[in-house]
Amino acid sequence: MHKILTIVGARPQFIKAAAISHAIRDLHGELTEDILHTGQHYDDAMSAQFFRELDIPQPCYNLSVGSGNHGAQTALMLKGIEEVLLKEHYDGVLVYGDTNSTLAGALAAAKLHVPVFHVEAGLRSYNREMPEEVNRVLTDHVSSLLFAPTETAVQNLRKEGFDEKQIVFSGDVMFDNVLHYSPLSTLHSPLSTSFILATLHRDFNTDNPERLSNILSALNTIAERYDTKILFPVHPRTKKHLQEINFQPSTSKFQLVEPLSYLETLAALQKSRLVLTDSGGLQKEANFSGKCCVVLRPETEWVELVKDGSAMLADADKNRILEATQKLIDKTPVRTQHFGDGHAANIIINYIKNFTD
Ligand code: UD1
Repeated sequence: MHKILTIVGARPQFIKAAAISHAIRDLHGELTEDILHTGQHYDDAMSAQFFRELDIPQPCYNLSVGSGNHGAQTALMLKGIEEVLLKEHYDGVLVYGDTNSTLAGALAAAKLHVPVFHVEAGLRSYNREMPEEVNRVLTDHVSSLLFAPTETAVQNLRKEGFDEKQIVFSGDVMFDNVLHYSPLSTLHSPLSTSFILATLHRDFNTDNPERLSNILSALNTIAERYDTKILFPVHPRTKKHLQEINFQPSTSKFQLVEPLSYLETLAALQKSRLVLTDSGGLQKEANFSGKCCVVLRPETEWVELVKDGSAMLADADKNRILEATQKLIDKTPVRTQHFGDGHAANIIINYIKNFTD
């Protein structure tokens, strides 16, 4: 029997971990996991509600590191994860995505020669100013198995010279999740009429007053121009900055709400006419739910969506946001073929099982 340590810490990781945890549970003991929560996200709406709603096993360890500068936050995680890895024997460490929790888990394990399995490997924005880009590149380079969600991610890894045996095209566990949970989400609709869904949390948007004000101004204009509600679930980082500038929407149609749960998000996607976001996960979930997306970033790792015409890059440029909205509102996107067949979690678990045997 083999046991792995799964490291999570931030909201998107709980969602991804749900798919894998359920696949592990279905193995009935052939492979088991302990979950370590770094505590990077700690508000109920950002953390605990995902464990409840998605039925994720309770973490065996919670490091409660909380928020902080990148160095301090990552250092606390490294120390805590190392202590756990020294105390208990694990056959591998499973990390997800590109957050500080991902990097800390990968680095602590690699230094102790514990194999690292990286889910969502090979993504590249080629923008090293993003903390996530640094995290994902470093994590890939200390990992033993690289689970690439798309062919583009596979190609990116090949270009960086990884051993072919390390690279696995698994598909995307977020696609597995949307297929599984969408039918269950219908009771969770936050609004009865159709609307535009918008989210914003990247530091380069929220912490830059000019970019933040351009995006907010575009959203105000969209709410007025299309006579449509905008539902804007506010990430805590964004909330802080909106409070600092005392932001008030210019119309009551622009509605700021608390962060949504996962099922509420899927329900909101089903009712939405369009999605505007700087989130990586939501770009994909929009497409999986049959909606187009305006990307509030200069580039994206999910280039397939842009090539298919399902998403447009608009950065924080008001004119580009308005033009992209005009082109994509109410448009049905191409159903993507790029993210696997909805069984990514099983593929990943089988590879890990064979690796640890
Ligand atoms: C992190 C990830 C990002 C991911 C995002 C999902 C990194 C570098 N970034 O960004 O890739 O897309 O999670 O949300 O790891 N805060 C709270 N309560 C919480 C969590 C955060 O109030 O439960 C506030 C704090 O003021 C904190 C700020 O949000 O300083 C930022 O949180 P942090 O975890 O550092 O980064 P995210 O912006 O969430």
